[in-house]
Amino acid sequence: MSRFHFPAWVNTLLPVMAGVIGVGAIYATGLLAYAVHPLTTDVGYRPEQPIPFSHALHAGKLKMECRYCHTTVDKAAFAAIPPLGTCWNCHAGKSAGGAAPTAVSVHTDSAKLQPLRDAVTNGQQYAWRKVHDLADFAYFNHSVHVNRGVSCVECHGRVDTMEVVEQKKTLSMGFCLTCHRDPAPRLRPVDQVTNLAWAAPEGKPEADAIGAALATSLAIHPKQNCSTCHR
Ligand code: HEC
Ligand code: HEC
Ligand code: HEC
Ligand code: HEC
Ligand code: HEC
Repeated sequence: MSRFHFPAWVNTLLPVMAGVIGVGAIYATGLLAYAVHPLTTDVGYRPEQPIPFSHALHAGKLKMECRYCHTTVDKAAFAAIPPLGTCWNCHAGKSAGGAAPTAVSVHTDSAKLQPLRDAVTNGQQYAWRKVHDLADFAYFNHSVHVNRGVSCVECHGRVDTMEVVEQKKTLSMGFCLTCHRDPAPRLRPVDQVTNLAWAAPEGKPEADAIGAALATSLAIHPKQNCSTCHR
């Protein structure tokens, strides 16, 4: 019995197979580079907005509650961006249609607010540039987090100190799972979720006790099943 030999025509496939392996390696490297590239995870993404709206001023200095503007954040998956009418409540300008300015209107002639007055005069809404954007194959829901003691700050950083909103966290699968494996230490009383400056009490035992008590009272469990986020 002679040893098995590949037929001679197989030789012609060798360059093809080498090519496939080579391209595969380049593809894998590229995919990895893409996956860890900051533009993919988008940390630091900070688009300038058409109206220079400052969270540091409104949510920080003026201490406006997040839900005054993001009205659906504790009721729905999506956190509503306020319509221009919400700004108009305080910034109604003289040179435009819409409700006239009242005694409490501020900066009614501000140059920074000219785009607001133009848009309201023309009956337009505004296209704010989206900062955070999760891939469509991952399911996310604001209300389940906000109503279970997970603060905005965990995923958005100190928005109340930002002149221009910037993405602070990767919002990658690894980021979500780090908390989902063991949420208790990252919980706070539900009425403190929009208080981004809230700090757990000094001392690890005290902080751990609060987290554990919240996890029990809110019936929170680790959620790592793929179907939690990929449905
Ligand atoms: C006076 C209204 C107002 C208040 C109060 C307010 N926001 Fe906003 N927020 C906006 C507007 C308008 C935008 C869209 C423009 C921008 O990104 O600055 C926005 C955008 C954001 C975004 C980025 C959304 C995206 O595109 O990904 C986050 C996150 C956010 N707000 C969080 C907060 C948090 C947290 C608070 C409370 C500490 C808060 N906001 C309070 C009006 C408000
Ligand atoms: C509840 C009232 C209130 C609402 C609602 C509000 N603002 Fe303001 N805004 C203020 C106050 C008060 C100031 C002035 C603070 C100061 O001068 O110290 C201000 C200042 C500003 C300024 C700076 C103006 C200048 O010339 O310096 C801009 C721009 C602005 N707001 C945009 C917005 C936009 C856009 C919205 C809607 C998303 C909005 N504001 C909603 C109260 C409000
Ligand atoms: C557990 C993480 C997490 C928490 C907590 C959280 N967010 Fe978000 N937020 C996200 C993610 C992820 C997105 C992008 C969603 C998308 O693209 O589908 C987002 C998007 C937004 C947007 C843009 C509109 C939208 O829904 O896509 C706003 C506004 C916002 N968040 C405000 C808030 C405010 C205000 C709070 C606190 C009351 C908060 N978020 C708490 C993760 C979080
Ligand atoms: C800081 C902690 C934390 C982070 C970060 C976080 N989550 Fe959660 N998530 C929770 C908690 C707590 C719950 C509620 C768990 C429970 O009800 O037992 C939850 C629940 C959920 C649910 C609902 C599960 C269900 O079946 O009701 C989804 C979906 C979800 N998270 C997706 C995400 C995604 C996607 C991200 C990343 C963008 C994320 N979460 C980041 C803490 C977190
Ligand atoms: C807590 C939420 C959550 C859970 C649980 C989860 N994922 Fe993901 N997954 C995400 C998010 C968020 C992304 C990234 C979305 C993006 O890049 O915008 C992602 C991305 C992915 C991707 C694309 C490749 C990548 O890494 O970006 C795959 C594949 C994937 N998940 C598979 C799984 C599998 C399999 C499981 C179960 C073992 C699982 N996921 C559990 C949230 C989750």
